[in-house]
Amino acid sequence: MLPTHRPRRNRKSEVIRDMVQETRLTTHDFIFPLFLIEGQNQKLEVKSMPGIYRFTADRIVEEVGQCVELGIRTFAPFPSINDSLKDRLAKESANPEGLYLKAVADLKRQFPGIVIMTDVAMDPYSSDGHDGVVDAESGEILNDATLEVLGQMALAQARAGADIIGPSDMMDGRVAWIRRVLDENAFQHVSIMSYTAKYASAFYGPFRDALDSAPKKGDKKSYQMNPANKREALRELALDEAEGADMVMIKPALSYLDVIHAVKENTHLPVTAYNVSGEYAMVKAAAQNGWLDGEKTMMEVLTSIKRAGADAILTYFAKEAAAVLRRG
Ligand code: PBG
Repeated sequence: MLPTHRPRRNRKSEVIRDMVQETRLTTHDFIFPLFLIEGQNQKLEVKSMPGIYRFTADRIVEEVGQCVELGIRTFAPFPSINDSLKDRLAKESANPEGLYLKAVADLKRQFPGIVIMTDVAMDPYSSDGHDGVVDAESGEILNDATLEVLGQMALAQARAGADIIGPSDMMDGRVAWIRRVLDENAFQHVSIMSYTAKYASAFYGPFRDALDSAPKKGDKKSYQMNPANKREALRELALDEAEGADMVMIKPALSYLDVIHAVKENTHLPVTAYNVSGEYAMVKAAAQNGWLDGEKTMMEVLTSIKRAGADAILTYFAKEAAAVLRRG
């Protein structure tokens, strides 16, 4: 008996394949993370992330300019702060004259059309390397003491011109707290993209190297989620929605495509995914060894994240993928 149903007919030429293609990436889908360092006139490659650099504030301008040229319009900067400026309460995070907030203000001035999403979490500024306040005696991460710090950090970022606040810390109640602080200070128009389901993942390794932000003691398992859990992500989603998040995020992306899908099915908010440093490093390492076609793998990875349900993707591939999309 020969087949009567032949799905291959819909794959028989490039034109037909293009016509029936369900998921299409565009450069507008991308949010590009940027690494900032103190100093002047430096552009240093992150060893575990070939093609990704840490820039001083003066050099970040040319990078953003090139990205804008390629059609990338949304950026997520992260700072690498000198150890001498770190303390238990991450005070440097609210310093308008500090590296991060000055760079944010500067970029918004130079590129008024771009959107900047700032990161709210204590780790880059914390002498403990944790996202929350660490109790000096017990080593516990203190949720409610952290909210105070996060609120001030978010407010300082809004004052610097942030369009979107991205709490990446996973403390309970932080979306509501930040929303209230922003609203009380006439920043009703500033959005919150919550890291809704952020897992305690080994895939953050290269990022922590880039920012020198690894925990000095212990791990992040008492606040970041257990990679084994999916229903818990829906609980976090319900809370973030109730607390006023404008957009939600799942992080990492590739090992969590099922979570992206589940979140998409359960919300009307835009869903984003963070294609994290370790996911980037894996593809780059394999490509450098000649074990994978780096460009094809990159496009497949990004397409799969969008197919799973992500409306936008934070990705270190943004610049490279934008160049591929432009080429057509
Ligand atoms: C910290 C933060 C991390 C990342 C973004 N914000 C690392 C962590 O939680 O330890 C990781 C991003 C990446 O790996 O690309 N608040």
